[in-house]
Amino acid sequence: MGTACEYDVIVIGGGPVGLSSAYHLSLRRVRSLVLEQFTFANQLASSAGVSRQFRIPYPERYMVQLVRQSLPFWQELQAFTDTRLLEEAGTLWFGDKSVHTSEGNIADAEEALKAEGIAYTSLDRDALERHYPFVNLPENYVGLFQSQGATINLRETIKTLLDINRRSAYVSMKSEAPATSIWRKDQKFYVTTPLGIFVAPKLILAPGPYANGLFRMLGFDIDATFWNMSSAYFKLLDPSLRYPTWFAFQNPDGENGNEFYGFPELDWNNPGYVRVASDFVVTPLSSPEQRTFVPNQKELSFTANWVREHMKGVEPTPQYTSTCLVSLSTIANKELLIDFAPASVPGSKNIVLYTTGWAAKFVPILGRILSDLSLDGRTSFDITNFQTGTNYLKML
Ligand code: BEZ
Repeated sequence: MGTACEYDVIVIGGGPVGLSSAYHLSLRRVRSLVLEQFTFANQLASSAGVSRQFRIPYPERYMVQLVRQSLPFWQELQAFTDTRLLEEAGTLWFGDKSVHTSEGNIADAEEALKAEGIAYTSLDRDALERHYPFVNLPENYVGLFQSQGATINLRETIKTLLDINRRSAYVSMKSEAPATSIWRKDQKFYVTTPLGIFVAPKLILAPGPYANGLFRMLGFDIDATFWNMSSAYFKLLDPSLRYPTWFAFQNPDGENGNEFYGFPELDWNNPGYVRVASDFVVTPLSSPEQRTFVPNQKELSFTANWVREHMKGVEPTPQYTSTCLVSLSTIANKELLIDFAPASVPGSKNIVLYTTGWAAKFVPILGRILSDLSLDGRTSFDITNFQTGTNYLKML
């Protein structure tokens, strides 16, 4: 085997987290290879679509801390592009204060923001309807507004990371290169792909929803379900209306999970339309292969009904639709898992992984954390709450 196939770190998974990891490795002059099973910037996994939410409110202080710590890393990435990566419009959380969703709970988030000394505004139902274009909200609804909330331009984030890595002498990237087997010999990992065998003493695994296909090659897996999440764009009939990024906390109603979130109108994402999505699925999948690219019609109609009922100046017929596939575990609040492979996997301390949960807002800092763990075995960021591999990663 020639030396051309050897790297310091092989990153498996060429989505935003894998690309960010390679970028951070390159800052330390570490040679990495990113293996992407499909093509880069594809629409086949968790980074499908264009926009995601950036928000500071979280029900746990450590999440608020992590998301704030991610801001300098967003700024660092921003320096590489003239296109705004975070389009600030504020975060508006509103709804029933007692409802706990996978995003958290309004009252807990207020406590966490208070404890972290972060300014926010509380609103009652009347103030909510006065300040924002929502209507017919139940009388018990309250709101929390935090001004640093933003729409993440995920497409531009991925493009920026790809551009940086393409220019880097330290990063190699290969598409159509799924790992088909991984073995370890003489302190090195050998990763077989249709493009050849690649070798490195360290692995970073960032496989998105395709986690178990990869983890099983190493002898472990995670108990995960898969949500093929649907969203749609609705025509903004009154362009003077300004929607923030928002999330509605409501009790489920039968099959209708009743949690919805949305974005402002954006000139880089179907201008003239606002995106509204459901944060639930009617039917979770048991493997990523079960997904289709057609949004679930029930989820779309629940969303359209909510738009009709509660959004001012918006035509309630879904126009453009999209789906994205996310893997979620049984971890409370659908949090991230950032850890080494289980101890009984040979070379486990040289295998770092990120899996499950919603990570778009953490992409720039996650790359730093994964590269720290890979190169130093530790990171200065407090990830104790995410190092839950012993609870959730199971040997086969
Ligand atoms: C989030 O901010 O983490 C989020 C928002 C909406 C849907 C899913 C996740």
